[in-house]
Amino acid sequence: MAVSDAVSRAPAAASPDRRRLHVSAPPERFFGYYPGTVAVITSAHGADRNVMSAGWHAALSAEPPLYGVALGRTRYTHGLVLAAGGFAVHFLPFEQARVIAAVGCVSRHGGVDKFDRFGLATAPGAVLPLPILQDAYLAYECRVSAVHATGDHDWVVGEVVALHHRPEAFDEGRMQDAQRVAGTVYYGRSRYEALGRGDRVDFDPDAFREVAPGD
Ligand SMILES: Cc1cc2nc3c(=O)[nH]c(=O)nc-3n(C[C@H](O)[C@H](O)[C@H](O)COP(=O)(O)O)c2cc1C
Repeated sequence: MAVSDAVSRAPAAASPDRRRLHVSAPPERFFGYYPGTVAVITSAHGADRNVMSAGWHAALSAEPPLYGVALGRTRYTHGLVLAAGGFAVHFLPFEQARVIAAVGCVSRHGGVDKFDRFGLATAPGAVLPLPILQDAYLAYECRVSAVHATGDHDWVVGEVVALHHRPEAFDEGRMQDAQRVAGTVYYGRSRYEALGRGDRVDFDPDAFREVAPGD
């Protein structure tokens, strides 16, 4: 039996009396749903510019293209993005994991220019006056379209007005090929891992939709 057939006919979720997961309510400690691909956010307003890491981010809409990032209100980047009305979202290869860790550990509140300190090469945005990190394999230029207060962060939504990418990181179907250019996954607590160096499986979506004979 193919892997996809086995998965599509797997039994329903276990009943509560077979629960194997540890439960804490309220949570003992919020895990932050890691691991996940980490992003790097830049913004600039006048002569001021900044860069920080963000593990909490998501695509929100295809038409119009929208992307969201959770910015803590204490981050220097938070005020800069709201003043500028724009931000750029970058994805850096695993070889740049040290940069991701560094810009997420140092704040511009201390006066440091992180681009200079960590030697980050930038080029101007195509549409917005934002620094675009040239070591990224994918970057979105975003114009702020909404800001939603979410607990101790603001969920900042941006309309994607330009996209930058390194062609060799993607296959012919524009799917990211992490075995060509490994993206960076963040586990929390300063641990990073290369995307695309583990097992890989492709599923046939139709295998989940068809009704098996006798079902
Ligand atoms: C891997 C990683 C992921 C992070 N994710 C977020 C995030 O999603 N949102 C956030 O507000 N801060 C996040 N941080 C923390 C900020 O990057 C960090 O506080 C940074 O120093 C803020 O810089 P700034 O004050 O110059 O803006 C993350 C840090 C790291 C290292």
